[in-house]
Amino acid sequence: MRMKYAAVSFFSGVAFVVVLAAGSPCSAQIDHNITPVTTTAASKIGSMTGHAYGVIDSGAQVYRRYCVGCHGPAGDGNGENAQWIDPKPRDFTAATFKCRSTPTGTLPTDEDLYDSITRGFVNSNMPSWRPLTPELRANLVAMVKSFSPRWQAEKPGTPIQITAETPVTIESVLHGRELFQKMECWKCHGPAGKGDGPSASTLTDSQNNPIKPFNFAAGDRFKCGVTNSDLYRDFMTGLDGTPMPSFADVIKPEEAWDLVHFLRTLQPMDTKERELWKTYAAAHKAYIKPIGPDTGAQ
Ligand code: HEC
Ligand code: HEC
Repeated sequence: MRMKYAAVSFFSGVAFVVVLAAGSPCSAQIDHNITPVTTTAASKIGSMTGHAYGVIDSGAQVYRRYCVGCHGPAGDGNGENAQWIDPKPRDFTAATFKCRSTPTGTLPTDEDLYDSITRGFVNSNMPSWRPLTPELRANLVAMVKSFSPRWQAEKPGTPIQITAETPVTIESVLHGRELFQKMECWKCHGPAGKGDGPSASTLTDSQNNPIKPFNFAAGDRFKCGVTNSDLYRDFMTGLDGTPMPSFADVIKPEEAWDLVHFLRTLQPMDTKERELWKTYAAAHKAYIKPIGPDTGAQ
């Protein structure tokens, strides 16, 4: 199920669950007990977002109503609808999250989880929950955190610094293109960013399910947000639990913006970056090396 707009995605997501529940003989899922691992410490596990303070007790009710069908009563991603879904619902007991402002391997901030729940995940069955009030969404953040003991043992990582965006110039785009070659993004994402690189068909996520690299030619809606800063964060934090790594150790902050600007040329819709690149490419056709194995594209 791929949705174009947040609101639509919420309603289709709910419809999806309702339809499955109604059509299934064991639609008594609503009676399952939700089993956060931290019941005794429940009162300590709140969530603090810029929007509201979240508490587990109220989170459990909302979770039971809207989330349990996919994420399961134990939060392990084994809800009764999970079998029909690809990619699979997140297993909250592992506390491994794709969309974070924090370095790879660390826990996300409450705000990160709040944003993910609000935004929903494109190219997946995870709906946007924007129609729920900020309080309910904050309660859900607390609930999501209750399923893994990691939240009591560790603190969230420190969000990475995102430097001010550099100007969009052809030099920046060209340098970004070099990085796309040098960092071997193309091996997974493909030379034209279509998600069809030589490694693409072999990739699996941390649960051993096949996973596809993002296809930039299919649009500009990303799982972890749509802005240039969101793109910057994607490759500087990595999408944990997937083969999409963090490049924070090898890409300098000022270079990261060049890569963002190049990624914008791979989209089908017109962007300033794409215009600059098209003009340049038309004038320098004979000299442009294609991206790919051993060509050393420049
Ligand atoms: C129709 C099934 C479905 C429902 C209902 C659903 N989810 Fe999800 N959820 C998913 C799937 C599938 C993913 C994984 C998406 C991906 O990896 O691209 C996911 C991922 C997530 C993540 C992971 C974010 C990250 O950065 O990795 C969170 C948090 C989450 N869901 C919270 C919720 C909450 C809270 C609810 C209830 C309000 C909910 N989900 C309801 C299917 C669902
Ligand atoms: C080993 C394979 C691999 C390499 C190398 C790789 N990626 Fe990815 N990338 C992935 C996969 C797989 C996904 C999809 C993750 C998902 O949908 O959960 C992805 C997703 C993305 C996304 C979209 C994230 C979102 O929010 O939806 C961006 C942007 C991205 N990659 C940029 C890059 C850049 C830039 C490089 C090089 C610096 C790179 N990738 C290198 C495998 C790779």
